[in-house]
Amino acid sequence: MKHDMAGKVTAASGANRFPARLGWPGNSARCGSLCILSSVPLCQASSWRPFRTFYRRVAWAPGPWSRLAVHVKVVETMTHESRKADHIRINLEEDVRFPHLTTGLEGYRFVHQALPELDLAQVDTRIELFGKTLAAPILVSSMTGGTDKARDINRVLAQAAEACGLAMGMGSQRTALESPQTAATFRVRDVAPTLLLFANLGAVQLNYGYGVDECRRAVEMVQADALILHVNPLQEVLQPEGDRNWADLLRKIEAVCHGLDVPVIVKEVGWGISGRVARMLINAGVQGIDVAGAGGTSWSQVEMHRADTPRLRRLAQAFADWGIPTAESLVAALRARDEMGQPEVRVFASGGIRSGQDVAKCLALGADLVGLASPFLKRAVESTEAVVDEMEYLQEELRIAMFCAGARDIHALREPGRLVSVR
Ligand SMILES: Cc1cc2nc3c(=O)[nH]c(=O)nc-3n(C[C@H](O)[C@H](O)[C@H](O)COP(=O)(O)O)c2cc1C
Repeated sequence: MKHDMAGKVTAASGANRFPARLGWPGNSARCGSLCILSSVPLCQASSWRPFRTFYRRVAWAPGPWSRLAVHVKVVETMTHESRKADHIRINLEEDVRFPHLTTGLEGYRFVHQALPELDLAQVDTRIELFGKTLAAPILVSSMTGGTDKARDINRVLAQAAEACGLAMGMGSQRTALESPQTAATFRVRDVAPTLLLFANLGAVQLNYGYGVDECRRAVEMVQADALILHVNPLQEVLQPEGDRNWADLLRKIEAVCHGLDVPVIVKEVGWGISGRVARMLINAGVQGIDVAGAGGTSWSQVEMHRADTPRLRRLAQAFADWGIPTAESLVAALRARDEMGQPEVRVFASGGIRSGQDVAKCLALGADLVGLASPFLKRAVESTEAVVDEMEYLQEELRIAMFCAGARDIHALREPGRLVSVR
């Protein structure tokens, strides 16, 4: 074992390298962690915090203590897996919407065309993206992986997206990099051979020992067409086990953009990308930005339901309405791209998209692809047919909106004057 630059324990061989940073166990991870650690003498602790430091130290120690690194790794992996399980459960069972903040899309309206001069059958929702043709510019936003339930959800979503000709993002694949036996929970290519598929990792992991190699492995693991790096600073600080070092990350994102031979997309998870951050990312060489703005799933609300201390719950509540509304973030990112003269950078809209008309409004504002997470998750736990039904419905509503706005295709939908601000 050796201690790497980022302060983590890694195996000596490059191929088997794994980060073994011990984070705080999450709620449901806690009993699993106790079980695992019960073979270690000092685990009968009333407080975890001093022991976190202890285990880090012993994990670095030479000789027989180094076997403790294995325990550290198991706890870390379990924490990550059970966090993902918590996220699915909370998103399905609790109200995790923003209390007041909305996407801002309600501030726009299409100008109805009583004479569209179109046959509905002529309306064409197809687009080209990253070398593939989609039936409509709709994305199943990144969600899950790592557990048996997550595997089933991923396969249902992928089958449905393949059948409907849409795109899909994987949930964070960190679990699978650290615990390769879970990689199968992310594999969908056998049921979705032509799907436009995005791999996914947290960008902050680049500050904790990950680099181009891990990013490449994530892409290869799922045979993805591109890599999404998600940026979620607020979520990480609201998680008891979250990663808090976000310093000097842009340079590492830039290295990934240059080191990978597939496009790199950076997305938020529901608080939006500002114009300033969009500029930084475009300068760094990203080929796509998913604004994932505020107004849909609120991750401070999700973490509020996971919080295990009154202080953390209070902090999460304080940020319940934080973030840049999706419409505002989308407009800011598009402006940044246009002002920088980088029209080839793709800008995706997501965060609170709940209808075909929301999709149409984002496209009219200039989005290249529009993502939904929570609505697809809710249908995925029913069946593949339920997801297909939702996707077909969205496409139909989008097509009718285009028809009544007089737009034959997505290009025409973006023409000035079709969508007006009603604020
Ligand atoms: C259960 C669940 C798990 C998620 N996990 C991830 C993830 O691993 N990586 C990521 O980039 N985004 C993740 N997200 C965030 C979504 O991709 C999306 O940005 C966010 O939920 C806002 O979209 P929505 O309002 O349509 O739900 C997750 C969302 C949900 C609902």
